[in-house]
Amino acid sequence: MHVILLGPPGVGKGTQGVLLAEAQGWERLVTGDLLRQARAQGTDLGREAQRFMDAGELVPDSVMIAMVKEKLTTLPAGRGVVFDGFPRTSAQASGLSMILGELGMKIDHVVVFKAEDASLVRRIAGRRSCPRCGAVYNIFLAPPSNDGVCNNEGAVLEHRTDDDPDTVQNRLDVYRRETEPLIEYFEAGGAPVHHVDGEQSVESVQVAVVAALGLA
Ligand code: AP5
Repeated sequence: MHVILLGPPGVGKGTQGVLLAEAQGWERLVTGDLLRQARAQGTDLGREAQRFMDAGELVPDSVMIAMVKEKLTTLPAGRGVVFDGFPRTSAQASGLSMILGELGMKIDHVVVFKAEDASLVRRIAGRRSCPRCGAVYNIFLAPPSNDGVCNNEGAVLEHRTDDDPDTVQNRLDVYRRETEPLIEYFEAGGAPVHHVDGEQSVESVQVAVVAALGLA
């Protein structure tokens, strides 16, 4: 099964993507993580992407579509895929449908998460992640056992450079302008679109996602 998780920054796409992929034995294709990896490796792409990410802007479509195409060809055949953070524009949505068509695949479901801006801002302000294992915490809502330190790795947790308040506001504006219209695009045809209330607890959102996808 191929599932797109769509929603604003901080709504819980990454959190739910991990839970879904772990429970179902699926792969995750997380474009934000791919860009952060490229940045950490100091590649030309990573340096170029950093400019856009730090400003809360989208990395150009051509770069993202090529990146997703390359990544998809490396995933084990026949395994489910959760798309987190892609597509984010209508050009990316068309690009994805073309790539999947070439590979004999299609999108089966789109899950749209929604939450109030105040909740998103608070969640993002509190988010901390482990630079080693990628585990995500929240100092307000889901803190690690020991302040500032990963439960699994003991590494010092980091605050994402694009999680400062000004950048977050721009990321929200960009989401409304570029990505939210994709909800109508998907509703107009193709895979079923499921709306999930992202204000609920992580566990309740998970239950809603599983039910929406018919996996319960
Ligand atoms: P990306 O990394 O994709 O960021 P995003 O879409 O802004 O989403 P986030 O990672 O901020 O939030 P999330 O919804 O995953 O929430 P999470 O589960 O972490 O993209 C970053 C940048 O890369 C973009 O701005 C752009 O520049 C570039 N980029 C990426 N993809 C691109 C593309 N396709 N095209 C162009 N550019 C692209 O949760 C957030 C916090 O809330 C956590 O602390 C978590 O613990 C907590 N939390 C989660 N769920 C709940 C809940 N139900 N209740 C309480 N707390 C919760």
